[in-house]
Amino acid sequence: MSTLPEVPVAPAEGAPPPARCVADLSGPRRWPVVGNLLQFDLPNLHRQMEDWADAYGPTYRLRVGPRDALVVSDAETIAAALRDRPDTWRRMRPIEAVIRESGGHGVFSAEGDDWRRQRRLVMSAFDPAHLKRFYPSLLRVTERLMTRWREAARRGEAIDLQASLMRYTVDVTTGLAFGVDLNTIAAAHPLQEHLDKMFPMLFRRINMPFPYWHYVRLPIDRDYDRHLVHVHEAVRGFVRAARQRLQDEPMRREQPADLLEAMLAARDADGSALTEEEVAGNVLTVLLAGEDTTANTLGWALWLLHTHRGDWQAVVAEVDAALGGEPLPPSFDAARGLDRIEASVNEAMRLKPVAPLLFLEANRPTRIAGFDVPRGGPLFCLMRKAALDRKLADDIADFRPGRWQGGAEGRERGTQKASMPFGAGPRLCPGRYLALLEMKMVLSMLARNFELIEVGPDGGGAPRERLAFTMFPVGLKMRLAERQLH
Ligand code: HEM
Repeated sequence: MSTLPEVPVAPAEGAPPPARCVADLSGPRRWPVVGNLLQFDLPNLHRQMEDWADAYGPTYRLRVGPRDALVVSDAETIAAALRDRPDTWRRMRPIEAVIRESGGHGVFSAEGDDWRRQRRLVMSAFDPAHLKRFYPSLLRVTERLMTRWREAARRGEAIDLQASLMRYTVDVTTGLAFGVDLNTIAAAHPLQEHLDKMFPMLFRRINMPFPYWHYVRLPIDRDYDRHLVHVHEAVRGFVRAARQRLQDEPMRREQPADLLEAMLAARDADGSALTEEEVAGNVLTVLLAGEDTTANTLGWALWLLHTHRGDWQAVVAEVDAALGGEPLPPSFDAARGLDRIEASVNEAMRLKPVAPLLFLEANRPTRIAGFDVPRGGPLFCLMRKAALDRKLADDIADFRPGRWQGGAEGRERGTQKASMPFGAGPRLCPGRYLALLEMKMVLSMLARNFELIEVGPDGGGAPRERLAFTMFPVGLKMRLAERQLH
């Protein structure tokens, strides 16, 4: 038998380079069986993964249980995977399992054809035409918040910013999507307290090495069960009320006024459109998806604007010019046109994205960024790393809202494309227009009517970031003074 030495074969000209294996990448040291899972510091997971990218390179490997996860920080790679859904990529499988058993299985956790059916309905409920019709209600909720904040300003009281903003976003979401005026701004509603327990628990369970709560229920699991009972009760109440409206006014079936009516009308018209479980699951999905995300983003934006006084003054100048003598944007179009606020919010979401990590999984063997990923292979997308790539601009880490205005086509285009706070591709956040509108309402109301005296955590400095499904600023307080208008 001849023993010829192996001769490396050069790839044919023009042929793609041979794929690499994820397992060959470097990454933090792993443990047998669980891999890196027990190293995850959940409230800080995004930072931890970003730090690992600094240590091991923008593309690295983590071991999650039996699988090697490919971690990527490059905007083009991330966008390509996000676009290639639901066929090639899906949300990481435990997301669906954990959300389903909490009764919140809806458009966020659904996949394939189930997702396609639900997505159409949800999208149309949040389109600009619906938002325009909803504007008078949005104005009313914003006025209530202004009244609360005016009282706090007169008393010289510090406002718990996150709590206050979450009340606002819950009232807006339930009004727009379910036709319910919850008015948690005027008086605390128990639903709020129960809802607030959901994200941290979902996040914890999604990242557990195995579903221990199927076998033993720790005190926190039992506590969670109790909160869930109340949440489901509230969801059933919303569904009952919407059903009643459809029964009292059958015309609503043709022209549903909100998402819930649209889901019920679709279900009753064709029993296969949306199951009872999917209707309830989507009510909970939208409640959860619309609350923390917008409130946290507003919190971050306010803190950044407060610490960049020139940028806040630019917002005030825009609002003064656009609102004239009014305390709030007088029309939907006036609110939508507040470009400086939009630029500031875009910049805040670039630096402080409330979804800094997106976890995907391959539906079939595929190749991405030159790596072969088997079926079931996880892909972790570091969204903030992509948006803070130093190759894009020298001042990439600075808060500079101006980069979203003016020179959009030129120099700044790459930075804008790399920032994907609402995700990308066919699963791009359907609530983004609503979120932007809410943020324009709150920021313009503040700019027009108040002076920002203080926005920050007790003791000053930058607020700590904490991840519990969404990333939020810890302990933000706000002090206001009424603005003397001439
Ligand atoms: C600043 C506020 C918000 C941010 C930063 C945000 C961010 C996101 C992100 C990153 C995703 C995943 C997208 C992807 O996989 O590509 C998402 C999905 C989603 N968001 Fe938002 N969101 C916000 C507000 C809202 C609001 C107000 C609602 C509704 C009231 C909403 C409803 C949803 C839903 C239903 C999905 C699932 C879409 C799907 O999987 O097809 N979001 N959002």
